[in-house]
Amino acid sequence: MTRDTSGIGAEPPVALVTGGGTGLGLAIARRFAKDGYTLVIASRSAEHLAHGSDVLRAEGGTVLTVPTDVREPAQVDALFAKVKEKFGRLDVLVNNAAGNFVARSEEMSPNAWRAVVGIVLDGTFYCCRAAFPLLRASPRPAVVNIVASYAWLAGPGTAHSAAAKAGVVSLTRSLAVEWAPHGIRVNAVAPGPVRTEGTDRQLWVSEALTESVRSGIPLGRFGTPEEIASAVSFLAGREAAYITGEVLTVDGGQWLGHGVMDLLAQAKGRERA
Ligand code: HXC
Repeated sequence: MTRDTSGIGAEPPVALVTGGGTGLGLAIARRFAKDGYTLVIASRSAEHLAHGSDVLRAEGGTVLTVPTDVREPAQVDALFAKVKEKFGRLDVLVNNAAGNFVARSEEMSPNAWRAVVGIVLDGTFYCCRAAFPLLRASPRPAVVNIVASYAWLAGPGTAHSAAAKAGVVSLTRSLAVEWAPHGIRVNAVAPGPVRTEGTDRQLWVSEALTESVRSGIPLGRFGTPEEIASAVSFLAGREAAYITGEVLTVDGGQWLGHGVMDLLAQAKGRERA
């Protein structure tokens, strides 16, 4: 499918996806490429970037890869300087880069906490901040942040991620209001359980856990990365022109049906102190 990108300048619009080399981020990047955007993908991992650019180029996309640790403000500034130098524009920013693992809070080291909060919350802020001048100059700018429904519920076993995602929800709403006068819309997508190589490794660590999570989803299945990408594309596009500061949950009804998913208890068995 090719999106109608007319009216947003002579050159193809540019979308930047952090963590865009693999998994959900790559699915989002592929969707924007199909929508007619030039892609920028950023990741800490050269291997992930090479994989992402191979996939995007094989599908006919134009892609710039920039090695970046979003926890480092200087690297983030350099990322957006590169985008400006190479394309002179940025129309869509998707803050997708994340880190996560299952651990009890009382056993989490300060460094473990900082690793996840640094990627998810600090990284999102640094990218938004650095993207602002380019976005402000775009005829139809949008930011889409990837969060999770446990941002407004609870994340037992992933307290670092839940706290960081809750921060990103708040940041989304604050920026939506601050940047509305500049025409920059800022929204979020809250995916439910989705299976990718990364989540299989970090979260869905056993068949029993996976089945237990699946059975708690009212629609009866995990989501696909493409279904999440479709929501991101919608929020970034002209059909969402009057939507800002919103969080679109794409979770098969999970949070409404069963509320909190206790990853730690399900993964390791509930232990009594
Ligand atoms: C306890 C852990 C740990 C684990 C790392 N740490 N993994 N502690 N259990 N499984 C601790 C380390 O011991 C260290 O603390 C600190 O975290 C930093 O770890 P490093 O490996 O040195 O850091 P880094 O290389 O930056 O790794 C970042 C990471 C890692 C977040 C920790 O997991 C990562 O990069 N993951 C890949 C991205 C990812 O997870 N994506 C999936 C997101 S899915 P000490 O004190 O020892 O130095 C997602 C969706 C959720 O978020 C939605 C659900 C519905």
